[in-house]
Amino acid sequence: MVIGILRESGAEHRVAMLPGEAAGLKKAGVDIIVENDAGKNSFTSDEEYKAAGVTPLSRKEVILKSALLLSVSPLPDDDLKSCMEGQVLCSVLNPVENSSWLEKARLQGLTVLALDLVPRTTRAQAMDILSSMATVSGYKAVLHAASLLPRFFPMFMSAAGTIKPSRVLILGAGVAGLQAIAIARKLGAVVEVFDVRSAVKEEVKSLGGKFIEVEGAKEDAAAGGYAVEQTEEFRKKQQELIQQRAVAADVVIATAQIPGKKAPVLLLKETVTKMKPGSVIIDLAASSGGNCELTKNGKTEVVNGVTIVGKSDYPSDMPTDASKMFGSNIINLLKIMIDKQGNLALNMQDDIINGTTAVHAKEYVSQRVKQMLNIK
Ligand code: NAI
Repeated sequence: MVIGILRESGAEHRVAMLPGEAAGLKKAGVDIIVENDAGKNSFTSDEEYKAAGVTPLSRKEVILKSALLLSVSPLPDDDLKSCMEGQVLCSVLNPVENSSWLEKARLQGLTVLALDLVPRTTRAQAMDILSSMATVSGYKAVLHAASLLPRFFPMFMSAAGTIKPSRVLILGAGVAGLQAIAIARKLGAVVEVFDVRSAVKEEVKSLGGKFIEVEGAKEDAAAGGYAVEQTEEFRKKQQELIQQRAVAADVVIATAQIPGKKAPVLLLKETVTKMKPGSVIIDLAASSGGNCELTKNGKTEVVNGVTIVGKSDYPSDMPTDASKMFGSNIINLLKIMIDKQGNLALNMQDDIINGTTAVHAKEYVSQRVKQMLNIK
């Protein structure tokens, strides 16, 4: 089987697979080709791909010759039209946002493997792109906040006097939030944390954060470890408590999300107006609506002296390691999909393969996609 790595378009700087990982994947008995300059924005040359046994070609040739096409984002519509029935596309999908794209791919008889649908199970951990990219986001968000803040993060005792440590408030202690706690603590800040899942309380404490509990959170074992939408009563209580903590904070890192839904609004406009001038809010949930009422996706704005950064694409700002992790996750996924002859063998009885396959043979496959898109 020939696997093709495509160059990303627009502002995306990552590439789906770097040469080191491609060389590893070749051991599964596959041939790999790459679009010219695919690694350029990740600081990787075509020469490095060649040295790893990966042939650089034009985009047209890569699309034409590959049985399986790897990319970070779904293929643009123009490229989709050039794909042939039976070809396999593997990328992050965002099924709700790209529902009409997915329908086109299904009608064309393409197979779509959605990296954001890999089940969050122990067996699938090494294939979990959402976790890898959230790790990058949590790390970068804290560093970005520290660079924008007009204060130090750590406590300083110097001849010029004592500087108090900054206070960082983290909303949502999932993968990005936990990483943000760890980095903010390493930089010496005092960290407070909100989440609706009681399971994370111990993890927050072990990283040195203070978990602030709001009573009455709704949890659902059927949500697969994810958060669910909360009652109006809980939301009000939580917003009030968050307001109290945000007013005392220098930095807020907002990461709270509910899969397939709009992100919960946790920081009201009124809260922002009460925050200290010079404070910084980094809203990682910006692309799904934002946790702050004033967030604008892809924009940085200053409101009453508070800098609000609406940014969900930090992995693209750290493309070398983000691409390395992305490619490693893909290899681990493909390992369970490639047979001894180096061909793709999709065993739909396997929960990971079934869960990750959005469409195949003109049918919707993944139960989660069907639920998200209301397909019977
Ligand atoms: P996410 O990006 O969907 O959400 C981030 C965090 O926001 C979550 O911790 C969530 O509980 C929290 N949140 C949602 N609504 C909130 C609200 N109203 N107020 C405060 N916090 C709120 O989550 P992520 O990072 O993708 O992971 C969520 C969970 O998925 C993990 O903690 C774990 O249980 C599971 N998981 C399992 C993995 C595995 O076993 N392979 C790998 C990664 C995650």
